[in-house]
Amino acid sequence: MSSMWGNKLRCSIFGESHSQAIGVVIDGLPAGFAIDFESLRQFQARRAPGKNRMSTARQEADFANVLCGFHNGVTTGTPLCAVIENTNTRSSDYSQFQTLARPGHADFTGFLRYHGFNDIRGGGHFSGRLTAPLVFAGGICKQILESRGITVGVHIASIAGVSDMPFDPVSLTPDTLLEPAKKRLAVLDDAAGALMETEIEKARLDTDSVGGVVECAILGMPAGVGSPMFDGIENRIASLVFGIPAVKGLEFGLGFAASGLRGSENNDPFVVEDGKIKTSSNHHGGILGGISSGMPIIFRVAFKPTASISKQQQTVDFVHGTPSDLVITGRHDPCIVPRGAVCVEAAAALAVLDLLMEERGEIPAPHTEEAETISRG
Ligand SMILES: Cc1cc2nc3c(=O)[nH]c(=O)nc-3n(C[C@H](O)[C@H](O)[C@H](O)COP(=O)(O)O)c2cc1C
Repeated sequence: MSSMWGNKLRCSIFGESHSQAIGVVIDGLPAGFAIDFESLRQFQARRAPGKNRMSTARQEADFANVLCGFHNGVTTGTPLCAVIENTNTRSSDYSQFQTLARPGHADFTGFLRYHGFNDIRGGGHFSGRLTAPLVFAGGICKQILESRGITVGVHIASIAGVSDMPFDPVSLTPDTLLEPAKKRLAVLDDAAGALMETEIEKARLDTDSVGGVVECAILGMPAGVGSPMFDGIENRIASLVFGIPAVKGLEFGLGFAASGLRGSENNDPFVVEDGKIKTSSNHHGGILGGISSGMPIIFRVAFKPTASISKQQQTVDFVHGTPSDLVITGRHDPCIVPRGAVCVEAAAALAVLDLLMEERGEIPAPHTEEAETISRG
């Protein structure tokens, strides 16, 4: 089903960009977990629009009203439902897309799929706004993982061809992993961040848009989790990451670059360090045969440039079959990457927690004998 996901931890995301509200039902959360709502609010704020000229001017606080599944300061273990109201809507900006297809957007395909009955206001269910409930759900999962010694984080690897320094795939620490999220643009190298911001502003002034790449890492993942073929860690992460609108590519470890190497260059030598089996490099991105190796899990996600640009474009009226020029007004992100980064982090947390709970049941807190056994793999 399109907007439902998960095996042990099932999420159903509902709503449209300009419907009364959007939200999520999360079924399968461990009972008795004390969600830190202040930290969750800060996590969601990284996705919320209207903060600066790098994002759409639509102002939404993304406040999530928890209707059930949380009581006396902890999760009840029964379905948790959270609703986020849509308050700052300007539906008239979208009326032309009832018949005119925005190049690069889902107006035409959505019309075909839903026979014209879909709500096109603000992009409807195709809108980037639907990532707000995803980020809410992923933020809870991230907190649960953190309480178990597993850290998920991201940085912006590139925007419009300007690159940040990459995560160190072998010796990345949780502190470094969490540092970029504290900044205006989530980068390791501030000079690169300033250049990226300039490129976004140039595109915005030119009534255009730019894309980029987000790099995500997961630290502390126990070795031996996952499965070969169709249900490995890559598959799980991919199914959620491709649920984020505007994502067009995903690579794990060295990814496409590995295809240009020899085996002798790409293979990561196994070593024993402090009694633990590791690899001295990490081209495999922490996953071999769909199963975690115990090395940091590293992947990169490519976002296309925002489809809605206000430059004049050529399109067709798909109801009447006539050619037309199109000038898009309304409020749009000149670059999706700054807000998309936290969506990737949320997707990774959700994927990993679902997998761990499915394979290992309620995952124990760190420093217990059971957790020690798990981390040994
Ligand atoms: C956080 C976020 C914000 C987005 N904002 C916009 C936007 O302002 N304008 C736009 O055309 N697309 C935006 N998108 C992307 C579209 O929703 C997406 O391109 C469209 O639904 C077509 O899907 P596809 O690109 O995955 O094929 C956004 C996506 C995300 C994740």
